[in-house]
Amino acid sequence: MAFLKCIKCGATYPIEEVRYRCDCGELLEVVQELESISVSKELFDSRLGTLSPPYNSGVWRYKELILDIDNKYILSRPEGNTPVYYSPKICAYVGHPNIRLKHEGENPTGSFKDRGMTSGITAARFVGAEVVACASTGNTSASMAAYAAMAGMRAVVFIPEGKIAFGKLAQAIAYGARVVEIEGDFDDAMALVQEVTNQMNIYLLNSINPFRIEGQKAIGIEAIQQSGWEVPDWFVLPGGNLGNSSALGKALYELRELGIIEKIPRIAVIQAEGANPFYRYFTGGYTKFQPVKAETLATAIKIGNPVSWKKLEKVIKWTRGTVEEVTEQEIVDAKAIVDSSGIGAEPASCATVAGIKKLVEKGVIKGDESVIGILTGNLLKDPDIVINYHKEALQGLRSTYANKPVKIKPTIEEVKRVVKL
Ligand code: F0G
Repeated sequence: MAFLKCIKCGATYPIEEVRYRCDCGELLEVVQELESISVSKELFDSRLGTLSPPYNSGVWRYKELILDIDNKYILSRPEGNTPVYYSPKICAYVGHPNIRLKHEGENPTGSFKDRGMTSGITAARFVGAEVVACASTGNTSASMAAYAAMAGMRAVVFIPEGKIAFGKLAQAIAYGARVVEIEGDFDDAMALVQEVTNQMNIYLLNSINPFRIEGQKAIGIEAIQQSGWEVPDWFVLPGGNLGNSSALGKALYELRELGIIEKIPRIAVIQAEGANPFYRYFTGGYTKFQPVKAETLATAIKIGNPVSWKKLEKVIKWTRGTVEEVTEQEIVDAKAIVDSSGIGAEPASCATVAGIKKLVEKGVIKGDESVIGILTGNLLKDPDIVINYHKEALQGLRSTYANKPVKIKPTIEEVKRVVKL
């Protein structure tokens, strides 16, 4: 049986209890008694390709490790089963032959958030929630709005006014959530939503909710299963609120405890230079965690006061991981390469590729090591940045790989002038 445990003082609470923090104020995590879980690679492999819910989901395939709950509570689209891409163009760009990219932007609502949302909304049903809420830089709100609509629940999303990508805002509105734009940034929205859910009878679905983390773990498990249970040397992913990277660490820890993997891959978390509180904390030798005022065009990770930094600290230490920062220019150029490779992803996701490039250049990631990078969100989430980059209209940035549209009169001569064979 699973229970909730404080990551600091160790106090425990039953999973039926609606709470997001320990009485001491610290974060909680779901703890499973791993000795009592009977799973194997063979069991998970036997579920590959099944059409039966919930095991057709790339999250619930690992149900015993996610949330061992009566199937009647599970709301699954299904999510996961996302592809792993290999691109010679991207490998050449980062200067490393063995990069694979797991594209979480190919989930039902276009981001990795669907994995944590299927487990989060399932927990919400389990406790009988009728209204759910989150603060978001966009993707969580899109995902939550969609899952809440399917569950017949009301959804309230708190977003920083004018600061989330258009595709995400459109999704939250279209799926029928109550969209509350607040004057302030994500960190203000995050503080507000915790107050709201503590005072009103509303269930919180940010990744501070430990059940969100449980579903999120499936990215790592699935990536390893897709590699024939061979563990890469590195996982690289972007960090904002730091829930996803914490979840990956938890997945690896549990897989190792269960004997499903032996090697511990190293985790590299990439932050945008203007939203880099954990990078500063890491490079400062973990002396004092200090929030920053976040600024980056990768709006998904524009977070200055991440909720899960303590969880991630453990993960980085346990995996002998690292933290890197990338500039706006590095993000947009990496994005142009990821996009023009035909794969495509939103800016925050491309911080992964920019980060890999930097870590390869610094010799932290070695040429003979294998790397799985996580692309977290879909290209279509943020069309504005694509258009502005290629029209050379991003203020203060170069459009190194611009692919500018051309306007012509509708004549064959004009076509011959602009389309050179
Ligand atoms: N990439 C994308 C596309 C995201 O949307 C997020 C987070 C991250 C990376 C960072 O993941 O927060 O777990 O470290 N988006 C949240 C949201 C904050 O509200 O959609 P993290």
